Amino acid sequence: MSQVPVAVVTGGSRGIGKAVADECMSLGFRVVLVARSARNLEQACRELSEKHAPDAAHQPDMVSVDVADVAAVKAAADDIIRRHGHVDLLFNAAGISIPGTFELDAETFTRLFEINLRAPFLFMQAFLPHMAAQGGGRVVNVASRNGKVAVAGLGGYSASKYGLVGLSESAYRAYAAQGISITTICPGWVNTEMAANEGPSLRPEEMVQPEDVAKTLRWLLSMSPSVRVMEVMLECAKDVERRASVELAKLYALKHRHEDEFSTLDVQAES
Ligand SMILES: NC(=O)c1ccc[n+]([C@@H]2O[C@H](COP(=O)([O-])OP(=O)(O)OC[C@H]3O[C@@H](n4cnc5c(N)ncnc54)[C@H](OP(=O)(O)O)[C@@H]3O)[C@@H](O)[C@H]2O)c1
Repeated sequence: MSQVPVAVVTGGSRGIGKAVADECMSLGFRVVLVARSARNLEQACRELSEKHAPDAAHQPDMVSVDVADVAAVKAAADDIIRRHGHVDLLFNAAGISIPGTFELDAETFTRLFEINLRAPFLFMQAFLPHMAAQGGGRVVNVASRNGKVAVAGLGGYSASKYGLVGLSESAYRAYAAQGISITTICPGWVNTEMAANEGPSLRPEEMVQPEDVAKTLRWLLSMSPSVRVMEVMLECAKDVERRASVELAKLYALKHRHEDEFSTLDVQAES
C-alpha cells in the first residue's frame, strides 16, 4: 500500500473543488476527484497531470458518482479504500444551490438536503472510522455564509448549509480526541459557475476566489497538531462594506424617528 497521502475531493471537477485538488497536488497528496460528469472529471485530471507532472504514485484518480445516491456513495467510498488503502483528507465541496423557500416543491427541498448535507454525512460516515483506525486525518466541509446568516429567498439552501454546520461541529467535537481535525469553511460569493448562474450582486473579481478556499486548506494543514480550527468564514469585502452601510443607514433612520429616546442614551462614538 502506498504511503502517499490521499485526498478525496468531492466536487473536484470544477470550481472550489478543482482549485482545492490543485492545491492538494502541490502539497504532495494523491487526489481522488468525485463528481457526476465523467467528462469534466477526465478533463480536470488531465489538466492537473499536465500542471503537476506527477509520478505514478501521485496520478490523480477520479470517481464518477451522484452523491445523492446513498448506495452508490457507499460503494464509491468502499472502492476508494480498496484502491488506495487509506484516506488522509476528505474535502466535501460537491453541492448545489437552488434559490427559493416555500416556492420550492418538497422534492427540490429534499434534493438540496441529499446533496449538500446527506452526502457529506455519508462520506464522513465511511471515512472517519478508517481515519480513526490509522490514528488521524482531516475533514473539511464547505458550507456557506448562508449556513451562518440566512437571507430571504434562499431558505432551502440555507437550511441545508445550517445543517452541515451543525453536523460538522458535532463531528469536530466527537473526533478531536482521535487526532481528526474537522473544519467547516463558510464562504460568501465564490467566483465559480455556481455563483455565475445565480446572477450575483458582485463582479467576479469582487468575490472570494476558489484559490482563496484552497489557500485556507493550505493554512489549515500548516497548523501545529495541537491546534483545531472549527470554522472559517470567508466574506467578500464589498459585501461586508455594503451590509455595514445598510446597517448604518437603518440606524440613522431609527435615530431620526426616535430622536427623544436616542438623546437619553449615553453612547460614545467609537474611535
Ligand atoms: N460559489 C459560491 O458562491 C459558493 C458560496 C458558498 C458556498 N459554496 C459551496 O461550495 C461548494 C462548491 O461550490 P462551487 O461554487 O465550486 O460549485 P460548482 O462550480 O457548481 O461545482 C460543483 C461541483 O459539485 C459537483 N456536484 C454537484 N452535484 C453533484 C452530485 N449530485 N453528485 C456529485 N457531484 C456533484 C459538480 O460536478 P457535476 O455537476 O459533474 O456532478 C462540481 O464538481 C458547494 O457546496 C457550494 O454550496 C459556493
